[in-house]
Amino acid sequence: MVYMHTVKRLITEFIPTNYNLHITVDRVGRAFTGVTTVTGSVTTNKIMLHAHELQISSVTVDGKAYEWAMGADDELTIAGAAPGECTVVVNYSGKITDQLHGLYPCKYKLNGEPKEVLATQFESHYARNVFPCVDEPAAKATFDLTLTTETGVTVLSNMPAKSQTESNKQLVTTFDTTPKMSTYLLAFVIGDFISKNGKTKNGIDVTIYATPAQTTASLNFALKHSIDTIDFFEDYFGVPYPLPKSDAVALPDFANGAMENWGLVTYRESALLYNPSVTSIASKQYISTVISHELSHQWFGNLVTMAWWDDLWLNESFATIMEYVCVDAIYPEWNVWLDFNLNEAVYAMRRDSLAGVQSVKIDVHHPDELQSVFDGAIVYAKGACLLRMMREYVGEAAFKAGLTAYFKKHAYSNTSGSDLWNALQAASGKNVGDFMDKWLTQNGFPVVSATSNKDGVDLTQKQFVIGPNNEPTKLWPIPLENGIFEAKQATIAKTGTPFRLNANDTNFYITKYDQTLSEAILQHISSGKAAVVERAQLLKEQSLLAKSPELSSAELVNLINAYESETDEKVWGMLSSVIGELKRFVDPDTPAEAALKTIARTLAAPMYKKLGWQASPNESEDDTMLRSTIIGTMLYGENANAITKARELYATQTLEQMDSELRDLILIAEVRHGDNAAAIDNLLKQYEQTENVDIRSSICDGVTATDNPEQIARLISLLKNTSLIRTQDTAMWYVRLLNNRHARTAAWQWLQTEWSWVEQTFGGDKSYDAFPRYSASILATREQLNEYIAFFTPKLTDTAIKRAINVGINDITARVELLEADKAAVEQKLSSFRA
Ligand code: BES
Ligand code: ZN
Repeated sequence: MVYMHTVKRLITEFIPTNYNLHITVDRVGRAFTGVTTVTGSVTTNKIMLHAHELQISSVTVDGKAYEWAMGADDELTIAGAAPGECTVVVNYSGKITDQLHGLYPCKYKLNGEPKEVLATQFESHYARNVFPCVDEPAAKATFDLTLTTETGVTVLSNMPAKSQTESNKQLVTTFDTTPKMSTYLLAFVIGDFISKNGKTKNGIDVTIYATPAQTTASLNFALKHSIDTIDFFEDYFGVPYPLPKSDAVALPDFANGAMENWGLVTYRESALLYNPSVTSIASKQYISTVISHELSHQWFGNLVTMAWWDDLWLNESFATIMEYVCVDAIYPEWNVWLDFNLNEAVYAMRRDSLAGVQSVKIDVHHPDELQSVFDGAIVYAKGACLLRMMREYVGEAAFKAGLTAYFKKHAYSNTSGSDLWNALQAASGKNVGDFMDKWLTQNGFPVVSATSNKDGVDLTQKQFVIGPNNEPTKLWPIPLENGIFEAKQATIAKTGTPFRLNANDTNFYITKYDQTLSEAILQHISSGKAAVVERAQLLKEQSLLAKSPELSSAELVNLINAYESETDEKVWGMLSSVIGELKRFVDPDTPAEAALKTIARTLAAPMYKKLGWQASPNESEDDTMLRSTIIGTMLYGENANAITKARELYATQTLEQMDSELRDLILIAEVRHGDNAAAIDNLLKQYEQTENVDIRSSICDGVTATDNPEQIARLISLLKNTSLIRTQDTAMWYVRLLNNRHARTAAWQWLQTEWSWVEQTFGGDKSYDAFPRYSASILATREQLNEYIAFFTPKLTDTAIKRAINVGINDITARVELLEADKAAVEQKLSSFRA
């Protein structure tokens, strides 16, 4: 897959206005036949449609048979048409394949029997695998879909069914005409489903579907949250939800997290189904954000769509910030903006500090590039951070008013970034485009050095880079309390006690304080007077700085010790991640490791004492979640009481009975400290039997924690067993094994040996680049770096993974150099701390 060229835009030849689609699906025969009748206008003298692996049997234009030919880039060319309105009819057939796009089967078991449902995944350019069309986001048209299927199934599409009849033992379902929309948003799903439905305030029908292997109780949370979300966005955007119904379907096989098909959103089961007794609170919060993300797309993306894929950031960055705006309004007690600061911003900044990472806005020549060009850390996370900074800059009222105007002006059509900036500029009176331009088109972000002197504080900005870099010279317009700091240097008044920049942590830069300033902040934190945002932000910024020569990693040891009275769940999450960073520096069974374990369990001990293992009846969700972080830290610290307690729970409770916050930890503790082989036997058997994704995910976490070489070999041999480990989960299993230092070499070897299988299985999906990318985020020795370079350099010709490889090399190099530079200092600091 090598695309050096720019694809032709077919809309320049033919502008479709309506598709009448008849598709007859033969599930058992793994095939379908179709008749596409498309009406539109020819602008020159030919009609071009996209078709991928479709067998075309005939083409007519206005009733007359026409010659046609298939060319490169999936182009079906029908020559000799006259300019003006016409109707094209294409008869064709196609295949249902196992790749998770186009039309594909999702497999599951019901009472031990194999079953399947069929589903579509058309984004970014797979509608052409199911019907000939101008498969470009700007080619909006209305759709009339008729599906002929087996009987006894539920058949869903974007719009409600307007008729359903049975003839010849087949079910014929015709759907209402859709509004004008892009091809990538069309969808249908066929199969046996359980469901639960309700209505929004304004009477929109909302239904949640899952296979009968799930429980109806697991649909309740998604139903409530979908209704709340639609109510919220109707009010926030000031534009009603545009369709009569909103369906959500949990699919057993799903390449991504979820897909915003208009009126028929599809989800991975773990992103939709909430079972109160087995799903963790973190998963419930994740489900909420995914639902809010996809439903925000019903406006941002579906009602108003980017004209071309180079503005996909506009879709995805926006949906990512709206997740937080919406969930924060519905569940203010979750304090999700702090999660935003610690999750999205850290994810974005870690990636964006490596050389070779793309900017948020970037050219797209071919939609196949999307898999790798749209880096989640950048197009989702960084883009969302930049939009949040912009929202603070214009103010919430102008932000909201600008969006409403944007939706009203561009409904049912296409836009680019400047259309949004214009709307926000009109609403705020501020030059939004100018402010955002440098942030969006330059990769990287700044670190501001703050040095106090007697007149105030001197500020200097420069690009923050870790690992190999070539003298960055970029500058950014940085929002300060009273104005924009755009130059290299400035001096400002020393305000605040202590002095801090970016006090609410809403801007996309980090600060390096001089010793005087940072001691004052640390003092403020140890004294217990600092607010949560401040405590979290310092950990975040210092742990990023420690990855660069700006700060020695040994300083992190001092830093975490300033948090000895920490009680906040989110700050603790960050603390435990900083402890995780320090783990890389210590070798197994060394005094340094013992010291780090002592520090960890000493820090966690007060909260361990307070929270124990048992949730008290009225405790906050935060405390319930914190218990798991604390026990995890105690287990890492090899606290005997914690280990005994975990093993006792393993021995006495079923997986379903275990506390959903603690289940992963209990399984990991048993696998590490109990009878390895017996535990893994037992857990893998249950993995095979259960259809519950929460249980499956805990089992994956548990068994991959083993240090037993035989068991490691056994798990590695299961990675290609797709009837046990679904292809949607292979990458997760691989990453867990690679993260386990006892299994790392074997897992990395597996990837190299099985590469052609990986390429064949994941080649067309967004998850393909996860393999080079995650590998690079974990491998840590010079030897592994050299192996990575030797193995992946010949694969740089594959556009889908080229960037992941180039950045990956920088990522491992940075880690190796950091370990070499700071290891001795960290070890020394640790041993001086707890002898
Ligand atoms: N539209 C995307 C999914 C997508 C993007 C499919 C590009 C194909 C190409 C969807 O809205 C999305 O962003 N899904 C995320 C989950 C989300 C909550 C972050 C995903 O699938 O990772
Ligand atoms: Zn999205």
